[in-house]
Amino acid sequence: LPSPDPVSHRVRLISANWKMNLNHLEAIALVQKLYHLLRPEDFRYAEIAIHPPFTSLRSLQLTFEADRMPFTLGAQNVSDQLSGAFTGEVSAQMLSKLAVGYVIVGHSERRHLFGETSEQVAQKALAVQQAGMRPIVCLGESHEQRESGLTLDVLTAQIDPILNTYPLEALDTIVIAYEPVWAIGSGESADPEVVEGVGRSLRELLRRRVGDEIAARIRLQYGGSVSVGNAREFMSLEDIDGLLVGGASLDAEVFAQLIRAA
Ligand code: G3P
Repeated sequence: LPSPDPVSHRVRLISANWKMNLNHLEAIALVQKLYHLLRPEDFRYAEIAIHPPFTSLRSLQLTFEADRMPFTLGAQNVSDQLSGAFTGEVSAQMLSKLAVGYVIVGHSERRHLFGETSEQVAQKALAVQQAGMRPIVCLGESHEQRESGLTLDVLTAQIDPILNTYPLEALDTIVIAYEPVWAIGSGESADPEVVEGVGRSLRELLRRRVGDEIAARIRLQYGGSVSVGNAREFMSLEDIDGLLVGGASLDAEVFAQLIRAA
């Protein structure tokens, strides 16, 4: 089991968001290779979660179980509805039956390419919580919004529906991933000082809204062009407890190096 950070007492979380990449055979091969590249202390440093496409969840669940791999399984999306006539959708209950621990909700690609609203994202987060899993709620501003000084307004508008919907006593189960839109897949990560400032502001916002105790338990991740070269710096920021990694998680060697670097 991962040990909590001695200062923040929060358990670090490094998550691989594979997006729409790798079929189930490639997925199995990647986790097997990754597992062999990692050492037991890497799993004590952080919880390591793998978010493959839906089609690989069952295969990875069985692989983790069969080889006793201490990865946590994650999903990339979920329906905001519980069940019924919603062709093509996957419910939270179905995911929880596959031993999924975390579900990404509100990723910027879902917000921008599929028109998801913050209200829908809040419903999804709630569905995840009610099915006994934890949502990773993605927030982030666009380049123009940052340039116009709107970052905090945008993040507040994105998080507010969650804080209004999610049960207060369970709020420490959410993970917030700060992913500035312009840093995603661009090879250009955000400035660590910027991330530090945003992390502090988010923590402050949470304190005001849900109180010091719960706010201190909520984990914040940074995502957006995280690499072997910058992982350590982001992890060393006071309010940042983890990383949400896209491209650099698609190669076992690179991702193992990234975890080691962190
Ligand atoms: O969810 C992770 C992601 O959006 C960041 O992607 O490729 O910039 O690490 P990438």
